[in-house]
Amino acid sequence: MTGGGVHVTGPSSDLEPNSTRPFDGVDADALGDDAWQARENNHTEVDPTVNAFAVCHEPTQRVVPGPIRYTVSRSPSSGAWNMPTSPVSRITARIAETAEPFIRFFSEYADHRDAAGPDASDFVAGNPQEPVIDGYAEAIRRHAYSDDPRWFAYTMNDPGAQAAAAASLNERLGSRFRPDDIVMTNAAMAGLATSLRAVCDDGDEVIMVSPPHFLYEPMILAAGATAVRVRMREGDFDVDVDGIAGAITARTRAVIVNSPHNPTGRIYPPSTLRRLADALTEGSRTNGRAVYLLSDEAYHRIVFDGNTFESPAMHYPSSFLIYTFGKTLLTPGQRLGYIAVPPDMPDREEVLRSLTVAQLVSGWAWPNALLQHALRDLEGLTIDVGHVQERRDLMVAALRDVGYELHSPEAAFYLLVRSPIEDDEKFTELLAGNGVFVMPGRLLEAPGFFRISLTSSDAMIERALPLFAETLAQAGGRA
Ligand SMILES: Cc1ncc(COP(=O)(O)O)c(C=O)c1O
Repeated sequence: MTGGGVHVTGPSSDLEPNSTRPFDGVDADALGDDAWQARENNHTEVDPTVNAFAVCHEPTQRVVPGPIRYTVSRSPSSGAWNMPTSPVSRITARIAETAEPFIRFFSEYADHRDAAGPDASDFVAGNPQEPVIDGYAEAIRRHAYSDDPRWFAYTMNDPGAQAAAAASLNERLGSRFRPDDIVMTNAAMAGLATSLRAVCDDGDEVIMVSPPHFLYEPMILAAGATAVRVRMREGDFDVDVDGIAGAITARTRAVIVNSPHNPTGRIYPPSTLRRLADALTEGSRTNGRAVYLLSDEAYHRIVFDGNTFESPAMHYPSSFLIYTFGKTLLTPGQRLGYIAVPPDMPDREEVLRSLTVAQLVSGWAWPNALLQHALRDLEGLTIDVGHVQERRDLMVAALRDVGYELHSPEAAFYLLVRSPIEDDEKFTELLAGNGVFVMPGRLLEAPGFFRISLTSSDAMIERALPLFAETLAQAGGRA
């Protein structure tokens, strides 16, 4: 199987990402016979067709887009159009549809980048473009063998890893996490998925700040809930707390916030966090059950200019503080992170037990034994954040100099740049044609912008800066 091309079939193939698809969210049972008959007359019994992915085991382990169909057919006994005949579930097809624009983008970009050869400058994702930091491989090697026969036994939460994580959090945040408040996970994504599964029921709503991480909505759907977007405040990129308060309904189960924020680099200020906590406390009181805060803190150690980071979870006890080591160590393929549950979480024991169940049924969402053993050494390591800041300064100045519009982020890995032409996808294609790969804002719910990852190498930046200028001229000038 190759990574080439996007195999989009069926009626949704010509629809824009995030547009309403013909049978989106529609219960097949509730569709009238006429609707299904019309589709049959259209020479198809296969419907609604959506686009999704299959994992391809070529060396890059690329995720390849392809069709995943949810189909119904006429029941031979009753004649009703309500018999699911798909090879996969409706929920998987629905989730796949939500994730498809990203999967398509990543597949196409990887092909174009490979075709561009070694001179390509890759700013697309928070991926390493240089060898791993000093000390990482040694730490792994050091813990790769022990004569303890249980060294590689099934390991849920390794006490040493929990203790290392709690001590580090307490030092950074002034918090009082105990080792058993820490639930080790397969990085942040597993932390989010586990938390959602532990607290959500079918029909619940989960509010997320837009722009969100692209996997939030698919994971919310996988937990049986639906995603409700509240747009960030334009201008200062802060959380719109009034918007969140207004979006809370009787079905609201959780709110996901991400500080420092990908892609704006915004660190939410303490005043916002206090207001957010008040809004969630009031929502929980009205609903008679907790509205949980999922605090995605993937970048909380990648902070520039001596800025201080305050955790949203420190303001609200019904929180899950979710962390990954994939950013700080720039090893996103090595899955290690945790959920920290505040010691004063209401119904703490029950919530912790539910997280354990959710991890078990998610296919063992704990990180592997080796990474947990190595954590006591890995915890103190970090990429050179000062150097990431220097890259930020260099690129912000150089891009502004030639006419791009962008702000200077307070934290995280990304620059969010206004596209010089309205169609950010078209502009990113122009850049790609010149060997510079960035992420179009439209995929991030930031249309009219594009995103640059500062995890690129210095050599890539040096090569790319004149190409950014040339592409701007090609597109007709100033942003
Ligand atoms: C905001 C945010 N949350 C979570 C993640 C996922 O982190 P991990 O892949 O380490 O689980 C990312 C990674 O891109 C991210 O940007």
